[in-house]
Amino acid sequence: MAEKILVVDDDVDSLKLIGLMLQRQGYEVVTANTGGQALTRAETDLPNLIILDVMMPDMNGLDVCKRLRQNVATSKIPIIMFTAKTLIDDKVKGFEAGADDYLTKPTHPAELASRVKAILARSAARQAQQQPPATAPRRQSAAIGVMGAKGGAGTTTVALNLAAALLQQGEQPVVADFRPGMGSMAAMIGLGRSQGMARILSRPAAEITPRVVEGELMAHDSGLRGLFCSTRPREIQMPIPEETALATVSALRMVGRPAVFDLGSGLSALNGRLQAEMNRLLLVVEPNPITVNMAKELIQEIETDSGSGRISIVVVNRSQSSLQTAWHDIENTLGREIKAIISAAPELAFQAVQNNLPIVLLQPNAIVAGQFARLAETMKPGIRSIAGGILTT
Ligand SMILES: Nc1ncnc2c1ncn2[C@@H]1O[C@H](COP(=O)(O)OP(=O)(O)O)[C@@H](O)[C@H]1O
Ligand SMILES: [Mg+2]
Repeated sequence: MAEKILVVDDDVDSLKLIGLMLQRQGYEVVTANTGGQALTRAETDLPNLIILDVMMPDMNGLDVCKRLRQNVATSKIPIIMFTAKTLIDDKVKGFEAGADDYLTKPTHPAELASRVKAILARSAARQAQQQPPATAPRRQSAAIGVMGAKGGAGTTTVALNLAAALLQQGEQPVVADFRPGMGSMAAMIGLGRSQGMARILSRPAAEITPRVVEGELMAHDSGLRGLFCSTRPREIQMPIPEETALATVSALRMVGRPAVFDLGSGLSALNGRLQAEMNRLLLVVEPNPITVNMAKELIQEIETDSGSGRISIVVVNRSQSSLQTAWHDIENTLGREIKAIISAAPELAFQAVQNNLPIVLLQPNAIVAGQFARLAETMKPGIRSIAGGILTT
């Protein structure tokens, strides 16, 4: 069922415009053009979200917001305040009145869409948490590991964009950065200084439950949730008992559908162990002979340790050099098919980081975004159904 959004504005034109934008995104829209009407409609329609204008003749939006919060029937409905005023003072007032977010007019459709999506995702997550624990144990979903044949090959970018693409496609992924002290993923999307992963990894295994892990997740504006590492150099040395790492993987697989892991490059003691836990392993390769050979050795080691058949190749073309190894040579050397080729997009990759967004959310129509989306599609079969650790596709 489509989620229902109540849009409140005394200006009929802006009511229509916002209504139309939201309908295009697939939401059901109901409207009100006075504060009084807003209160009645909120109570009778019980929308999933309310977008509320601040300046209205009959009743100020901030008062409407307060009244909605005081009424038990409407107190939990998320509210985005929407106004032409850009004064910081109003923002503060909006939050004091109980608003969840704030948008200033005129708003770009993409911004409106992403805020709405994020708020709805957050509120759905909150509701899910408040549900009484189900009697059936939670099922584990798939673990998808992303590993680089060498550092700087684009591993973190692939893990992040794969998770974001899965989110766009309606899955509920959680992304996990397993690189203590080198956690660039959070910084890429503006959530720097995250220490959730370090806090989890410093706990004894028995304490690491899905609920505890959920409490350390951070949510990006897009609704994408992740367990992130900091970039504090010394964290690299943090001792991580194997049971703790394994318990973390296992809890993440209950929390995300699927769980996507950035395992970094090469085989450290930590990711050498963790890779064996992955249902699927994407090996990120740069199309040059040195990296392809490193990938070959890595595949050999992993498959001797923990069996074959899980590893797929993702080629990331970070630069448009003419000295590239042809894809069929890569396939021949590595003895398997390439799952995805990500084109060179240095400007877009840079812009994405500047805007604290994964590439697929910054420019969903870009060629690389399409490549990530297709990669995500190929990961979907079996995300939910794990039998004995083997994906049933
Ligand atoms: N398709 C691409 N084209 C150009 N640059 C890219 C592409 N993908 C990633 N990058 C850039 O390459 C650099 C390394 O990427 P990152 O994902 O951090 O690699 P790793 O995790 O392997 O160290 C980053 O600056 C990133 O923005
Ligand atoms: Mg990285």
